[in-house]
Amino acid sequence: MESHHPQTPCEASELNRRSFLNRLSITLGSIAAAIVAIPSVGFLLGLRRPTKEWRSVGVLNNFPIGATTQVSFPDPSPLPWAGVTAQTSAWLRRVSEDEFVAFSVDCTHLGCPIRWLPSANLFMCPCHGGVFYADGTVASGPPPRSLFRYPVRVQDGEVQILTSPLPIATELGKETS
Ligand code: FES
Repeated sequence: MESHHPQTPCEASELNRRSFLNRLSITLGSIAAAIVAIPSVGFLLGLRRPTKEWRSVGVLNNFPIGATTQVSFPDPSPLPWAGVTAQTSAWLRRVSEDEFVAFSVDCTHLGCPIRWLPSANLFMCPCHGGVFYADGTVASGPPPRSLFRYPVRVQDGEVQILTSPLPIATELGKETS
């Protein structure tokens, strides 16, 4: 049989305090979960798409025909607190008078910055020994696909790169499958 004994004022106030704290922690937890979830859900639904943008990387005369030069520009999707990491770069080659190719510096294996070795005519990745030919295709090592390329144009005497977010790992899998 259930026994009901009257609560003292002290016990009643303790119960009220506990119930208030429980409700407060549930409310704060829900708010925190929403703060974390909303940007992720927006990203997954494709609502947060960094825009593509043509960015100047130098004047035409700075790039000799045949040379492969590293150029830097702001990352297409910088976060407000990114600091120096908001800067990224590409390897730009002037193929002819008005033709350029630009390769992402990110290795297609795990994203380490690749280096151009003019004497070997190859791109090398220092992390796991990935090697790419001058046209960006894989020569050896673990990279699963060719280097990503950026569209390039010449506008008013300036070389411009169409910056856009590079595919993430899952999209990479789709492309290579
Ligand atoms: S990150 Fe380049 S080979 Fe692994």
